[in-house]
Amino acid sequence: MVQRAVLLGLDLGASKVVAVVAVLGEDGTLTVTGAGQADPQGGLRLGEINDMDLATKAIRRAVEEAMNTAGQTQVDGIRVAVDGIQFLGENLRDTITISNPDKIITGTDRDRVLDQATAGSKLAKEQQVLHRIPQMFHIKGQSNVRNPVGMYGETLEAEARIIVAPGPVVKNIELALKNAGLAGAELIHAPLASAEAVLNREDRENGAVVVDIGAELTHVGIFLHGSLFHSAVIPIGGKHFTQDLEITKHLGGFSIAERIKVRYGHVLPPHLVAEEYIELEDEGRQVSRREIAEVLHARAAELLNHVTAEIGRTGLTYEIHGGVHLVGGGSLLSHLPLMAQTVLGRPRVVLGRVHGVSGLPQATGNPHCTTALGAVKALARDLQERGKHQDRSKGFLGKLKEMF
Ligand SMILES: Nc1ncnc2c1ncn2[C@@H]1O[C@H](COP(=O)(O)OP(=O)(O)OP(=O)(O)O)[C@@H](O)[C@H]1O
Ligand SMILES: [Mg+2]
Repeated sequence: MVQRAVLLGLDLGASKVVAVVAVLGEDGTLTVTGAGQADPQGGLRLGEINDMDLATKAIRRAVEEAMNTAGQTQVDGIRVAVDGIQFLGENLRDTITISNPDKIITGTDRDRVLDQATAGSKLAKEQQVLHRIPQMFHIKGQSNVRNPVGMYGETLEAEARIIVAPGPVVKNIELALKNAGLAGAELIHAPLASAEAVLNREDRENGAVVVDIGAELTHVGIFLHGSLFHSAVIPIGGKHFTQDLEITKHLGGFSIAERIKVRYGHVLPPHLVAEEYIELEDEGRQVSRREIAEVLHARAAELLNHVTAEIGRTGLTYEIHGGVHLVGGGSLLSHLPLMAQTVLGRPRVVLGRVHGVSGLPQATGNPHCTTALGAVKALARDLQERGKHQDRSKGFLGKLKEMF
């Protein structure tokens, strides 16, 4: 394979920072060659930097491990998946008149209508805009145009979604990345990265939901006609399931409750026999597995009801046919997809599987790497679309090189 670019993808989570290195071939193939993971030890909370030093160290450790496995010392591009409690999205709509005498819509017209829509948003004025995602265009007399450039039209209407976050939140993430030697890294909203990893073109077109259940937060992305239509963050994650267990069953501490949840956790109590007990070694007693499942079921129901509400908010409940894709550590609870089928009232709920990448199976087949792999895939796609790549000897590459 002729190597075109070495790419680094990161996912900044409350329980882990994940880094993956992938090589983009001249033929467009993406091969994962390195992966690393580090615990931020409280340095990240609710998607925000909580301790600059701890966050920086975790990023550095994850990247170092990924680069060492890959045998690389420099990269051509870095993309980092971020999302937090204060990230917001808004759907916008605006119209312009096409002033060219021949009424052929240009790229400038397309940008102008998107700029005008963004300028009209109060959120965009007050916060930092991370993404401006075109959803659909309408020309006078012709609706639902994917790309209006080169078409005839007297007016051009755009529908777009913006993703914003408070300036200081974004600035501090950028600062942590810079401190870790990754100046110049681009940010991507985590639901976009997760979707890039697990959704194929057909799912995106037919309407699909990506639910990323993390440690503290659940990120929801709803896609339709190929682009992000709705996104939301729900303040419930795997940590709440563990806390519920510890509070109600007194298993001997948060870390023991966490171990029991991961090993024996289940969300469908009727699937378990009443006589199955889990030995609490340090406590010298037993706890019913079915009772554990009842506690987890209650929290899962609450979380899935929030997801149902977010789907309902779009007004597209019956237009989403591409299924629900669960990602994130919290989605690994036994039988959660089956329970979600019932609660969400959707026949297709699957654990998201990364497609379109090859290489290291410990990364490509690892659910903990999904969002970081999505970030790298999004970067590869953009590079291919732009048809260019940065000179390996320039910019942040030098800075990254100093690190190793
Ligand atoms: N096998 C498993 N079964 C059940 N839960 C699991 C399993 N593995 C991990 N988890 C849970 O997943 C959660 C962490 O998920 P993940 O690693 O996606 O979070 P994160 O990305 O660090 O957090 P966030 O996105 O909230 O910032 C933890 O609460 C953990 O208990
Ligand atoms: Mg996460």
